[in-house]
Amino acid sequence: MLELSEAGAVPVPYLDEPRVAVDIAGQVTGVGHGGRRSAFKDDAEPSFCWTQYAGHGPGPELLGNPRSVLEVGCGTGRALAYLAQRGVAARGVDLSPVMVGKTTTRWAGTGAEFVCSEVLEYLSEHEEVYDAVYSVFGAAWFTDPSRLFPLVRRRLEAGGVFVFSQPPAIPGAYGPQGMYKGGFAGKAMFTYRYSYRPAVWERLLTRAGFATADARVLDAPHPGHIGTLLVRAVAP
Ligand SMILES: C[S@@+](CC[C@H](N)C(=O)[O-])C[C@H]1O[C@@H](n2cnc3c(N)ncnc32)[C@H](O)[C@@H]1O
Repeated sequence: MLELSEAGAVPVPYLDEPRVAVDIAGQVTGVGHGGRRSAFKDDAEPSFCWTQYAGHGPGPELLGNPRSVLEVGCGTGRALAYLAQRGVAARGVDLSPVMVGKTTTRWAGTGAEFVCSEVLEYLSEHEEVYDAVYSVFGAAWFTDPSRLFPLVRRRLEAGGVFVFSQPPAIPGAYGPQGMYKGGFAGKAMFTYRYSYRPAVWERLLTRAGFATADARVLDAPHPGHIGTLLVRAVAP
């Protein structure tokens, strides 16, 4: 029987029970805009960037002009703080109690709200709807899209948008990509990340009930560097 850690739970595809509890998503990606490895910096300022390169690519305009947003896998909370400072009702969910504790303290003055929860559980149990749901190298990358997308769809207002970014699939490596934490000896802690070609992301979204879906890979600022998968879907 696999155990639960103190951190929270990530559903394992193909197995509803037991769940392996992991809190490694932020640690393993170090999404760090501009190449940061550490997920949380006390002195970081609010900022919004879909890519792993500071100042590169589109900004929050992909969300339209939302009155309310939900970020799934909000990590450092910088993007939510940025939106909250501009008058958006901004809520984030993240399964890491450590990150949620830090972001709640750090961004207290902005009005952004942080909830500690696994995203599928949160979306199943809470019926609020939003103008936009988004993920920046966040929970949309770590969650089975066949389970996540229909739930997101149900939590969007008519015409609402779902936008997410993450690294593009490595050619030939599609579907759930399993990974261990901390090497290959010791307690078995692992998670999954989901990778597909853009056309497959679009199909998964329209099958989940979205009216339109557009997925594309944005080139990195330097030739030969890793680009960014950017996906945007609109609810009917
Ligand atoms: C790469 S980090 C976040 C990046 C974030 N955009 C930022 O700038 O900090 C991914 C985050 O997703 C969270 N996460 C991963 N899977 C999740 C899930 N199933 N439910 C909720 N949060 C999840 C992790 O705890 C982690 O904080």
